[in-house]
This record gives sequence, structure tokens and C-alpha cells, in this order.
Amino acid sequence: MKQIIITAGLFLLASTTSLAGGRKSSVTWFDKAVKSAAVQTDLQIKGIEANKDTTFLNPVSTKKNRHSTSYCKYTDWRSGFFPGSLWYLYELTGNKNYLKYAEKYTEAIGDAQYMTRTHDIGFIINCSFGNGRRFINKEAYDSVLVTAAKNLCTRFKPGAGIIQSWNVNPGSTYERKGWICPVIIDNMMNLELLFEATKISGDSTFYNIAVSHADKTLKEHFRHNASCYHVIDYNPETGEVLHRMTAQGYADESSWSRGQAWAIYGYTMCYRETGDRRYLDQALRTFDYMRNNVNLPSDKVPYWDMDAPDIPTEPRDASSAAIIASALYEISGYPVKNASFYKNYADEILASLSSDNYVARPGENGRFILMHSVGSLPANKEIDVPLNYADYYYLEALKRKQDIEKKNK
Ligand code: GLY
Repeated sequence: MKQIIITAGLFLLASTTSLAGGRKSSVTWFDKAVKSAAVQTDLQIKGIEANKDTTFLNPVSTKKNRHSTSYCKYTDWRSGFFPGSLWYLYELTGNKNYLKYAEKYTEAIGDAQYMTRTHDIGFIINCSFGNGRRFINKEAYDSVLVTAAKNLCTRFKPGAGIIQSWNVNPGSTYERKGWICPVIIDNMMNLELLFEATKISGDSTFYNIAVSHADKTLKEHFRHNASCYHVIDYNPETGEVLHRMTAQGYADESSWSRGQAWAIYGYTMCYRETGDRRYLDQALRTFDYMRNNVNLPSDKVPYWDMDAPDIPTEPRDASSAAIIASALYEISGYPVKNASFYKNYADEILASLSSDNYVARPGENGRFILMHSVGSLPANKEIDVPLNYADYYYLEALKRKQDIEKKNK
């Protein structure tokens, strides 16, 4: 990891110096990043197509051996990210081949629209069908989004004003912990599906539920320093907070990095959809908390938890960095003081992620683009591995950068 810090620092120095000096060098790392992503993803597609078992079209990470790819079914919260990555790669490269596979893998997870047992239907459907409706099959895909939104809304608890994240099944760990109605900060990301469903259907119920959830989360999920808890357990009838805890972070009072990233991205998206300034202000405050944190490494790729005990030898989480970078590009288009600061910061994160420290060599890393993410360290699962959602938000951030640079030309 020490090596990563030193090389990343040098890379970043070169990158930011040349960024300041003009557009040319910036384009160079960007072009290289898109090319590496395309080469690696082509190999990933080849691997999927060689696999006769069509239940497993969704690469998610690597197996314990760290080399071979692991896959998931459509019911897994990560099933929409690989199809989503292909829609972005099409936009980044203009290569129509990606459209074919994006459509195929998107439609293969169509049954996810009927799921009611998880809040993650927002991640699954919006990243796949939500992106795909910008290109093809608009009406059919729109109908998938609305059905999925209806099913997500079955989890809404009107008395508390929130959408329940996880079920507390008899005999489960959650039940043993005494949880009743847990809501995780990640759930902010699922609200995008609801906003889209109102725009498609004209039914404001989805919008109102999203706003209710965002407001309640704004009130209960954040600490005075603007960092957020991972899990809040509610009384579903009254909305009283029963517990504030973590599941994937180091400690209940620590700052799990991906949770902070979900908050920054989630509230930026809520501002886009509602124009409510409180949401953007929360995103900015939580980002300020991250960027001013003494534990943030100089390459701006966070440790998996900002309060993890063994910093600087703790694993990094590239997924958090990618999610934050994508949100910052969006923020840079909003009425904020010094908007270019957010764009430049996102450029610096992407430059780090696009360096050899994080981009895998072709065919390695389970054929994923980025190395060094963490799924759940407390569960001893996916530590310092590739994750398909790190790749998804990385590609989304590259695409947002591409759009901004085109507009600025
Ligand atoms: N939504 C699960 C995670 O961020 O790991």
C-alpha cells in the first residue's frame, strides 16, 4: 500500500500539473482510461458468452482465489451494474457492439422488477433498464421501471416516512441484534428509480415517497460533523429511532466510506430531482467531511472506513472514490461557490483511479477494470478485490467528464 501511495502521488502530481497546463494531457489519461476499460470489458463479455449457464450473466467480483470471476443471479443487489456499465461504455466509445450486449444482459434480469423483498430493486433496475431507456426499447423499459417502483413502494412505512431497507427474518442476524425496521444510507440511491417512475407515469406517489424518505434520512442519519451512520433502526409505526449502528463499517460511530459516498451521491441526485437546496447542502457538507478528513490519502481514494484502526495499512475502497467522483461532476454543474473546484477534484480522483495503481492489467483481476475495493470487511467478504459497482460508477464518472468536456469545448 505504501507503494500505491507513493506512485499515486507522483502520478497525481504529473496529472494535475498537466491539467493546469492545458487540455492535452488530461485527454491523454482520459483516453487511456476508456481504452483500458474497453479492453478489459471485452474480455469480460467473452468470458460470459463462453459460459453456457445463462443464470450467471452478471460478473460481480472475484472468487476467494482472487483470479476467477464470480457471478450473481438477477436477485442480487449487484445484478444491474454490469449491464449498466455496458450502456456507459457504449456512450464512451461509440462502439455499437456494447449496445447489443447491454440489451441482452439488461433484459436477462427483467424479473427483478417484481421483487418486493429488497430495497435494492432501485439499484438493479435503474442502473440497467434506467440507462437502457435512453437508447432503445423506451416504452418496454419504462414499464419495467414503473413496475419496479411500485414494488419498491411496498416497503414504504407511512407511519415512519421511510422505505425499509432490509427484512428482519425470524432467526436472522438482524433479529438477534433486535432490529425492527433497518434503513441503510445506501437506500438513498434507490430513490432515483422513484423519481424516474413519476416522470414516466405522472403518478406523484413515487415522488412523494422518495421525498419523505430523503427528508427522514436527512433528519436522522447524519452526525453533527456531517458524516453519516450506516444503519438506522426505526419503529415503523412512529418513526422513532431505536438504534444507530453499522453493518459494513468498522464501528457504529465510525465513518464507513462507501456510506459517505452513497450520501454524497444520493443527496446530489435528490437535489437534481427536486431543486430542494437542503439536499445539495447535505451532499456538500458530507463531501467536505471526507475531503478534510486527516485520514484521506493524498490520492483521494479513501480507506474502506475513515476510522479504521490500522490506517495507513488498511485496504482502500476504490468504489467509494468512483461514486464520489461521479457525484462531484454533477455538483460542478449546480449553483455552488467555486463550481470548478468540484470538477477538478473529480478529475483528480479519476486520474488516481485511472493509474496503474488501480487499473488492472488486461485479463487479470477477474477481468474487472478497477482493483482495490472492499465489500464488507466485518463480514470478512470481498476485501481488497474488484467490485462491479466500482467499475460502474467509474465509467459513469468518465462519461460525465466526457459530457462536461464536450460542453466546454
Ligand atoms: N449496498 C451495499 C454496499 O454498498 O455494500
